[in-house]
Amino acid sequence: MPGIDRGRLERCLAAEQERFTGAHPRSGALFARAQASLLAGVPMPWMVRWAGGFPVYVREGSGAHFTDVDGNEYLDLCLGDTGAMTGHAPPAAVAAIVEQARRGITFMLPGEDAIWVAEELARRFGVPFWQFALSATDANRFAIRLARHVTGRPRILVFNWCYHGTVDETFVTLGPNGPGPRPGNIGPAVNPAETTRVIEFNDVAALERALATQDVACVLAEPAMTNIGIILPEPGFHDALRDLTRRSGTLLIIDETHTICAGPGGYTAAHRLAPDIVTLGKPLGSGVPGAAYGFSAEVAERVRERMRPDEADTGGIGGTLAGNALSLAAMRATLAQVLTADAFARALPLAEQWERGVAGVILEFGLPWIVQRLGCRAEYWFRPAPPKNGGEAAAAADAVLDRYMHLAALNRGILLTPFHNMALIAPGVTGADIDRHTAVFQESVATLLG
Ligand SMILES: Cc1ncc(COP(=O)(O)O)c(C=O)c1O
Repeated sequence: MPGIDRGRLERCLAAEQERFTGAHPRSGALFARAQASLLAGVPMPWMVRWAGGFPVYVREGSGAHFTDVDGNEYLDLCLGDTGAMTGHAPPAAVAAIVEQARRGITFMLPGEDAIWVAEELARRFGVPFWQFALSATDANRFAIRLARHVTGRPRILVFNWCYHGTVDETFVTLGPNGPGPRPGNIGPAVNPAETTRVIEFNDVAALERALATQDVACVLAEPAMTNIGIILPEPGFHDALRDLTRRSGTLLIIDETHTICAGPGGYTAAHRLAPDIVTLGKPLGSGVPGAAYGFSAEVAERVRERMRPDEADTGGIGGTLAGNALSLAAMRATLAQVLTADAFARALPLAEQWERGVAGVILEFGLPWIVQRLGCRAEYWFRPAPPKNGGEAAAAADAVLDRYMHLAALNRGILLTPFHNMALIAPGVTGADIDRHTAVFQESVATLLG
């Protein structure tokens, strides 16, 4: 990283590490205890990657804030990596969840909430027929299965450094020797290069080549990439993507799980996309597990034609708890009262304020960094220009600098989304909260530059 003294960076990081350990004795003790019962001391493998060396253990959260077991208070700009996008414990969703829990949680039978939620998702995303799952990962898996089923084609196509959950076919990256398993891919059944074509985002020529063989069932894409940082589509990219998929008989699956940050109907509604299938999960039930995938009328008809009711329980699309009454009550309340146009109207100006604050500090210190925003999600990058694809974005990663910025923020009461420098802004954040982030960002940079 030009302009950053690496020795000084290491010393700043060590100082932040010491401060973190000193301020989190109870979290440290719980982490030590967890070594005897949880693999690596954490309930989920990636939790070992939090910047402090051990995770902060949460006591409780409300709106955009939470408290840890040591009594430290935080502004939450991670929000459960979008699961709690509209803030923790939103009262309207909590009331509906409590009420439904009293009336029964899961029946293996539908209730009216499923219809209400499907109608609302159809209104927002423009595709009329919906199904439910428990995670966005499963929504993507099931959408891919159906795409293969109705097209009779074996392959899928994804963009380099995408993330769509733990979907086997998507753990593929472009290396110097062509496509291969993504670094760290655990126990792949087959090399994903056999199931999947992978190309760079925004590369229309590569897309045309990859679809020309007419063996690709579907393209699975975030409409703007968010998982290797925010990468926006170039003008004309979505038109080309839609045109080429249509012309080659390939279904277009748009994964709105993160890009719902662009508005109540996600990027799809905000930019008038016309996907064949839409998938989403995470914030739909205010954090209660729930996900959905929806089809165009044409795809729904093709699915109907090829589904055998007597095999519907063994077809590879399942989940005993999927579509359960609690998930659907949570989704209904969330869509009706929490994840609303009003909530976006409150969050968007705050995200713009966050972006302006960070941009001002970058300018003040003349750093070769940038800030990028998509709706109520924003992020800074340690590179002078926005990356246009996943390969460029991955090459700009600086794990030590990331760790320092995250830990410096955490030690000053601000939680950023881990693994990149992303902030998600909940509607309950205040202008003063955002100014505090700007001040902390300024202080972290000033200390680093000396
Ligand atoms: C775009 C996208 N799709 C799907 C998923 C999977 O979500 P989940 O882990 O809740 O299944 C993620 C998770 O980060 C995601 O970012």
